[in-house]
Amino acid sequence: MTTAFIGQPVSRVDGRQKVTGRATYAAEFDVPGQAHGAIVRSTVANGRIASIDSGAAERAPGVIAVLTHRNAPRLPYRAHKGAVDPDFGERLHVLQDDRVSHQWQPIALVIADTLERAIHGATLVRVTYAPETGTTDITRVEPVLPTREQADQPERRPSETRRGDPEGVLASAEVKVDQTYVIPRENHNPIEMHATIAAWDGDRLTLWDKTQWVHNTADEIAAVFGIPAQNIRVISPFVGGAFGSGLRTWPHVTLAALGARVTRRPVKVMLSRREMFYSVGYRPHTVQRVALGASRYGRLAAILHDAYQETSTYEEYSESLVNASRFLHSCPNVHTRHRIARLNVNTPTYMRAPGESSGVFAIESAMDELAAALNVDPVELRLRNEPELDEFKNLPFSSRSTKECYRIATERFGWSRRNPEPRSMRDGYWLIGWGMASATYPMNFAPASAMARLLPDGSAEVMSAASDMGPGTWTSMTQVAAETLGLPIERVNFRLGDTRLPRAPVHGGSMTMASVGSAVQAACRKAREAALARGGTNDLADALRRLGQPVEAVADVKPGDEGQRFSMHAFGAVFVEVAVDPDLGQTRVRRIVGAYGAGRIVNPKMTRSQCIGGMIGGIGMALMEHAVVDSRNGRVPNANFAEYAVPVHADAPPLMDVAFVEEHDPHVNPLGVKGVGEIAMVGVAPAITNAIFHATGKRIRELPVTPDKVL
Ligand code: MOS
Repeated sequence: MTTAFIGQPVSRVDGRQKVTGRATYAAEFDVPGQAHGAIVRSTVANGRIASIDSGAAERAPGVIAVLTHRNAPRLPYRAHKGAVDPDFGERLHVLQDDRVSHQWQPIALVIADTLERAIHGATLVRVTYAPETGTTDITRVEPVLPTREQADQPERRPSETRRGDPEGVLASAEVKVDQTYVIPRENHNPIEMHATIAAWDGDRLTLWDKTQWVHNTADEIAAVFGIPAQNIRVISPFVGGAFGSGLRTWPHVTLAALGARVTRRPVKVMLSRREMFYSVGYRPHTVQRVALGASRYGRLAAILHDAYQETSTYEEYSESLVNASRFLHSCPNVHTRHRIARLNVNTPTYMRAPGESSGVFAIESAMDELAAALNVDPVELRLRNEPELDEFKNLPFSSRSTKECYRIATERFGWSRRNPEPRSMRDGYWLIGWGMASATYPMNFAPASAMARLLPDGSAEVMSAASDMGPGTWTSMTQVAAETLGLPIERVNFRLGDTRLPRAPVHGGSMTMASVGSAVQAACRKAREAALARGGTNDLADALRRLGQPVEAVADVKPGDEGQRFSMHAFGAVFVEVAVDPDLGQTRVRRIVGAYGAGRIVNPKMTRSQCIGGMIGGIGMALMEHAVVDSRNGRVPNANFAEYAVPVHADAPPLMDVAFVEEHDPHVNPLGVKGVGEIAMVGVAPAITNAIFHATGKRIRELPVTPDKVL
């Protein structure tokens, strides 16, 4: 019997539950006596509610209550700043006043005995507005530095950095690239829409919620209602994709809890696909100027990366758009600046590889433009600018396998057969293009706890309040536990997604394997040692049988001072082949090869799936995704799956090849993992647009690359 499970391609332990429909998602819980809530939303982006008439709705069949700002209970809305909340600003206060801050803001909740009657009731609420002028158009406002700069805490995440004399050196550089790259708003579109069921029992609240962080949901709703977080239980065993939309709570969670409190029965609120576009954040629209100065040989002399993004009027969401430009390539003169543009929109949020997905698109597009200007191979250009250390932090990398990634990926791709001349490669009538980009994402490791309970029958229950939005947390944690305990996989039952379990960090930022995995390993080690010591034998099954009662151990892990000594990131390289229809301008992605140095890989099968998911997400970003915002009123006319295009199976290339560099990085965390969830998406979009340039000779700097832009 082998118990070496870490590194094995174990199939999903929850796979059978999922394919047989027995996995229960938030909206699928059937809480006895539950009523249904439908949200009434504003039809202006900025102003005040002048009048609201809920009489007809209240008289409609099946309607139990209609909550508006006029009759909803006042909520304390205590301060709450979790790790994923914007540094500055205050979340939307739901139904607390007549203020409207964004299009489709919730302004009433109709609760009825059935979903259909709630939806019908919502259509009967009559609202008039006193609109105010504002703007939802990023080109009409002057971006500003985030407030945290003025609040004198730039060390948290500096918005502006400078080393050397970037402007001066750029002005006299032998070769220059100076361009602006634009990415429109993109929305998280997981298969499962967000939903919450709320049920009160006296002053205790249970929430069945779609979330990537059960404890944060409890903390935030506790702050909203002014009750202790211990009074709130959040249950979220399965998450049908999230990509960041479930990192924090949103108004519908508060509405469900409010509705349940007023009606004294459980209330379910589920968002429609259209509501998802206005309710759970999105990747913000970004505008990024990148200027590169280089020698004729192709050594970077100056990098200027000046980026801004949209945020709401009530919160300053800001993401790490320019961070990678500070260390990805070697350069003595670097200026980076990141600003925000406040608009009458709902707050954007983290979306897969937030910051890096967008920022690396800009810098890696510019690098490709520089390679073309110099007539140097794009891989060779990067090798000529490979840094010895993190030149921003002035720290060594804990490990950095970029060169190895380029070597492996170029070989597997067949890059040496590339004719560098644009429009030189064809497959019959199709123009063929080969492009590449680098990728990077920080290694995140946050405090986490886990518990292991060993039972007399030789099985184990291992638990932590983590989430699994799809990457396979259930499975990877089971592997780590089984290997550490020395038990067969089938004897280990992992549990997650419940605030009654030991606290885990946010299921995002690619930190779950590093954090929860290390906690699971530590708890299992402790429990095994305790059982063996108490049982007086070296055989765990024997020890447990002799003891005749469960042996429990809890472990907490947290990062040490590695972050002061090392710069810790995953790195990768992405290579893409596209075929472009010269007459219709349509682009097909034919092949993607990605190579990653991401530390230890716990489950190569699921990790490959993660990477394929990221590649397909990158295809969406490059070629399809665009939430169109009507600049007159902030509406998103394509807030549906007919008109907001996402890649489907037919868009996925027949070949997606994923390779991992074997990395043994003892510095990052006890398990030696860096995480792959986010880096899998980074670099894909620029590799595609760089390939389109190679195919067509046309440089497209505004995503998505739709046929009208190619022609
Ligand atoms: Mo990821 S954007 O941290 O869910």
